[in-house]
Amino acid sequence: MTVAFAGGLSICPVLNGMWQVAGGHGRIDPARAVAAMRAYHDAGFTTWDLADHYGPAEDLIGAFRRELGDRAGEIQAFTKWVPPPGPMTRAVVEAAIDVSRRRMGTDRLDLLQFHWWDYGDNRYLDALRHLADLREAGKIRHLALTNFDTERLSVITEAGIRVVSNQVQYSLVDRRPAARMAEFCRARDIALLTYGTLLGGFLSDAYLGRDADLGTVSKQKYRQMIDAWGGWPLFQDLLAALKRIADKHGASVATVGARMILDRPAVAGAIVGARLGIAEHIAENSRILDLALDTEDTASLDPVLARSSDLMRVIGDCGDEYR
Ligand SMILES: NC(=O)c1ccc[n+]([C@@H]2O[C@H](COP(=O)([O-])OP(=O)(O)OC[C@H]3O[C@@H](n4cnc5c(N)ncnc54)[C@H](OP(=O)(O)O)[C@@H]3O)[C@@H](O)[C@H]2O)c1
Repeated sequence: MTVAFAGGLSICPVLNGMWQVAGGHGRIDPARAVAAMRAYHDAGFTTWDLADHYGPAEDLIGAFRRELGDRAGEIQAFTKWVPPPGPMTRAVVEAAIDVSRRRMGTDRLDLLQFHWWDYGDNRYLDALRHLADLREAGKIRHLALTNFDTERLSVITEAGIRVVSNQVQYSLVDRRPAARMAEFCRARDIALLTYGTLLGGFLSDAYLGRDADLGTVSKQKYRQMIDAWGGWPLFQDLLAALKRIADKHGASVATVGARMILDRPAVAGAIVGARLGIAEHIAENSRILDLALDTEDTASLDPVLARSSDLMRVIGDCGDEYR
């Protein structure tokens, strides 16, 4: 199943996240990883989220494209450029994009998501102008952002730079995008792609009535988020409330949690991390695509969510935890 995303590009609304191949999530065997990519692809999960710094992720996309041969055009591979602070000349920007094109085995990147570490340094606008030129030159199909806050997204759109999406952390725990970002994006036809939606796997039946383990770097990251939001006992109440909804629909906690975020305004896709060749949830996550939740389901979470902290106040807008 695909949905229209931007200018002629369609995506699967559940994207396969590749941070999990970058280390800290178990050892990834390249051959097994590519075989696992084929299984996701054959089940309809054709859209991949990755980054220049996610270990071998861009090379795995290149290997998978070679394996697909004539059918390589069936995948959508969304990478990121996460440069260290420094001069953003055309040469610097183009060299980075050329590396990703080479590693991913493609002349044109489907989507380039740009991250910036320091708003005190406004050379992010230089970088984005060069990236927009590279889009015109055909090296990038669509330009996008990750972890930008609403204030800078506004600066960027007012500078006349067209971006099609912003990738942000968004889950039933981290609902910061609902405060300002979603409405800003909806009004300007900018899509949200969400990560952390399953809180590294904590948002699942497996953690109902259980303690948290910190077996992956993803779980370490989201355990901190859960603590800032209200703590593990409150999170257990959220899982229990989700379990009641899941049972009603013959679904699971994870699929209900992901569907609720996909149903939010401006959200075009939820990224679900995949430990390629180690673990998979292909059949279960197919349910995210056809699950139809009602307003009663959403409202049943309100008593739990009302007891949580406002992460907008605790942390700040989208991406502020990186700065
Ligand atoms: N832009 C950014 O700054 C940024 C930051 C973080 C992540 N991301 C992107 O978002 C992706 C998602 O990563 P994340 O760290 O946020 O993790 P996540 O998607 O919240 O969690 C991924 C984990 O959830 C578990 N899972 C998946 N489907 C499940 C199901 N149906 N039932 C139960 N468990 C399920 C799997 O655990 P097991 O493998 O243990 O089964 C998987 O490893 C990354 O790969 C990356 O592409 C972007």
